[in-house]
Amino acid sequence: MKGISKLQGKWGVGAGQFWLIILTFALGGSLSGRVTSFLLKLLFLEKNWAFWLVYPLFLTILWPFSVIFISFFTGQFRFFKGYLGRVAGKLFGSAPIHVAIFASGAGSNARKIIEYFENSSRVKVSLIVCNVPGAGVLDIAKEKGIPTLLINKSEFVSTGYVQSLRNAEINFIVLAGFLWKVPEVLVRSYKDAIINIHPALLPKYGGKGMYGAHVHEAVIAAGEKTSGITIHWVNEHYDEGAIIFQATCSIEPGDTPTDLANKIHALEHAHFAPTIEKLLMK
Ligand code: GAR
Repeated sequence: MKGISKLQGKWGVGAGQFWLIILTFALGGSLSGRVTSFLLKLLFLEKNWAFWLVYPLFLTILWPFSVIFISFFTGQFRFFKGYLGRVAGKLFGSAPIHVAIFASGAGSNARKIIEYFENSSRVKVSLIVCNVPGAGVLDIAKEKGIPTLLINKSEFVSTGYVQSLRNAEINFIVLAGFLWKVPEVLVRSYKDAIINIHPALLPKYGGKGMYGAHVHEAVIAAGEKTSGITIHWVNEHYDEGAIIFQATCSIEPGDTPTDLANKIHALEHAHFAPTIEKLLMK
C-alpha cells in the first residue's frame, strides 16, 4: 500500500486515475503480446530459436503503441504521452529537461535564467508559475513567449498543481522569489527536483516572513558585516533543505537595505543559472 501511494505521489494522480493508469499498462501489455504473436505467426512456421530471438524485439517496439492506443479508451492519453516522452528522453538522452520557474514578483532572477538557457538544447524553461496577478515576471514570460500558470492558494495547498506540471512535462522546479510555502504534495512529487534561492546566508535569516526586503532589513539591523545568497533544495519546511551553493558579499558601514538588496541581486544574477546548469548536467 505504501508503494501505491508513493507511485500516486510521483505521478501526481488520485486513486481513481491511478487504477486507470494501471489498467492501461495491463491492457496495453497484453495487446502488444497478442499482436506480436499474431505477426510472428505470419513470419515463422514454428516457434524455433529465431522466433524467440525476434519476439522480445517486436514486443518492445509494439508496446508503446499499444499502451497509447489503449490510453485513448481509458482517458489517459495525456498521462501516457508525458510518461512515454520521459522514458524516451531517458533512453535516448535527447529530450530537453523542462524547467518551471515559480516567482511572485519582479522576476529579475527569472529573466536571467530564461536568457541563460535561451539557446540551450538540453535545458528549456517551459513554464512560469506565478501567484500574483500583474506581477512583473508575467510580463517577462510574455516577452519571451513562455507559457504561464497563475495559481491560487487553496488549489496549490491541496494539489500542488502537480497534474498541470506533469501535463507541461516539467522535470525540474526553480523557485526564484516565490513567496508561498511549497506544499508536501509537490515536494513528494518532485523529489530532489525543486530548488530555491534565498537572499541571505542560511541557516540565518530564513523561515516564515523572511523574504525580500525583510531579510535585508533584519541583516542590517543585526549589524552583520557580511551577507550573501543561498541556493538550496526544497523540503516541506521554509528554507531548511540541504544547501547547494552559497556566495557572500560585504556590508559596508552606512549600507542601507536597498544597497544590500542590490549587492544580493548581483550575486544571484551571477550564480543562480550556472548553479542550475551544474545540477541538471550532472
Ligand atoms: C530575490 O532576491 C530572492 O532571493 C528573494 O526574492 C527576490 C526576488 O527577486 N527570495 C526570497 O526572499 C525567498 N524567501 P526577483 O523577483 O527580482 O528575482
